[in-house]
Amino acid sequence: MKKMAIVLAAGQGKRMKSKLYKVLHPVCGKPMVGHVIDTVRDASCERVVVIVGHGAEAVKERLGDGAEYALQAQQLGTGHAVMQAKPLLGSEEGITLVICGDTPLVSAATVEAMMERHIREGAAATVLTAKMDDPTGYGRVVRGDDGAVLRIVEQKDCTPEEAAINEINAGTYCFDNRLLFEALESVTNENAQGEYYLTDVIGILQKKGKRVAASLLKDPSEAIGVNDRMALGEAERLMRQRVNAAHQANGVTLIDPASTYIEAGVTIGADTLIYPGTVLRGSTAIGEDCVIGPSADLTDTIVGAGSTVRQTVGEGAVVGEDCNVGPFAYLRPGTKLGNGVKVGDFVEIKNASIGDGTKVPHLSYVGDAVVGKGVNIGCGAITANYDGYNKSVTEIGDNAFIGSNANLIAPVKIGDGAYVVAGSTITHNVDENDLAIARARQVNKPGYADKIRSRAKAIKEKKNGES
Ligand code: UD1
Ligand code: CA
Repeated sequence: MKKMAIVLAAGQGKRMKSKLYKVLHPVCGKPMVGHVIDTVRDASCERVVVIVGHGAEAVKERLGDGAEYALQAQQLGTGHAVMQAKPLLGSEEGITLVICGDTPLVSAATVEAMMERHIREGAAATVLTAKMDDPTGYGRVVRGDDGAVLRIVEQKDCTPEEAAINEINAGTYCFDNRLLFEALESVTNENAQGEYYLTDVIGILQKKGKRVAASLLKDPSEAIGVNDRMALGEAERLMRQRVNAAHQANGVTLIDPASTYIEAGVTIGADTLIYPGTVLRGSTAIGEDCVIGPSADLTDTIVGAGSTVRQTVGEGAVVGEDCNVGPFAYLRPGTKLGNGVKVGDFVEIKNASIGDGTKVPHLSYVGDAVVGKGVNIGCGAITANYDGYNKSVTEIGDNAFIGSNANLIAPVKIGDGAYVVAGSTITHNVDENDLAIARARQVNKPGYADKIRSRAKAIKEKKNGES
């Protein structure tokens, strides 16, 4: 049977008090509606129609052409929203899943089980429900004495008896596609909010004698609808647990899952160990057998197998295999470390490639540079890549030795095996295997230290006498 999905994402989300449209708020780094789209795709829905309205362009841009779109120009309710998909899906035969764009925790397994049940029971509609300790804000599922679902009543339309029901509508449904669009024709807006409710379709089908089934969630937290920032925080916490558990199941050790923040798009190899306070974002990809953290903050960063990255901020960086980074390193965009590279404390690297086995152990800035293999960059040595207007490149050949506190004024090229003496300010290229020294020659004045001291003492005493 053909499976389709309609994702409701046209609302503004006033209760979020935000400039960002509700369904674009990220949960573990991915917009809520992105989680929902992934879920319906994983549940093998062939056609996915997203109803857009508020922020339509922004939502479409974020989701791309992985879905079809229908515009709901005015937000007249969830039933009205689904109606906007009629020109696209109205003539299809099959099952249509309707799901809210603000329920990011509904899992693909849940949707699949629900669809199977819907087919097995030959239902016209199946609604996903959950029993909540506090059902406030959700639609209540009203069942008859025989347990059959009669209708759904919105919070604002509830009688006190209905308000006491703790089984809620999760906002996810399966419908027979034809019956859905037919029933929507009879939905009115005569209710507390003056909206066309999708939930009324359940009562309409039931009254017509059609079979309405319900699928009760084992884990009610999947049903969380994110209407405000409190629910957003809760969804984030639950999603984080889910993401962390998936990595643990794949063989990743998290020393303290509760203080490990891994976004949904991150991949991690088996036998990697993650210490607390670590934040892994975006498309970060960590290899096997790594040690990450404590307190590593890596965004869109690739780390090769066997590397250690401690107390480091990485953005758009690539770290090779068996590297040792940190503590307190800053890898900025365009950083590319080869294999076996050491980047130590208080080192900043930007737009620079560093060859295999090279060491930048302490207090260096390496920007806009191409550094060869087996190079040693001494403590405090830096590239001066910027003249206030232009960025220039520093090239350092294989096995070169850059002494401590050297300034390499770009553009400049240090040849293979060359030796730059500590404290040098290098403005001219250094050829292969040459030694460069660019600093004032040392002069020692015997006994002069005492002379300096007596002079300084005299000045101080004179001042004290005057005051
Ligand atoms: C809705 C359900 C409620 C259920 C809850 C589950 C209705 C009438 N109520 O309530 O029974 O318990 O979800 O989370 O369906 N939207 C549109 N166009 C509109 C209105 C809403 O696209 O005109 C979208 C919103 O962007 C949102 C979703 O539909 O993603 C749900 O709308 P929302 O206003 O959050 O409904 P709830 O009050 O949460
Ligand atoms: Ca909602």
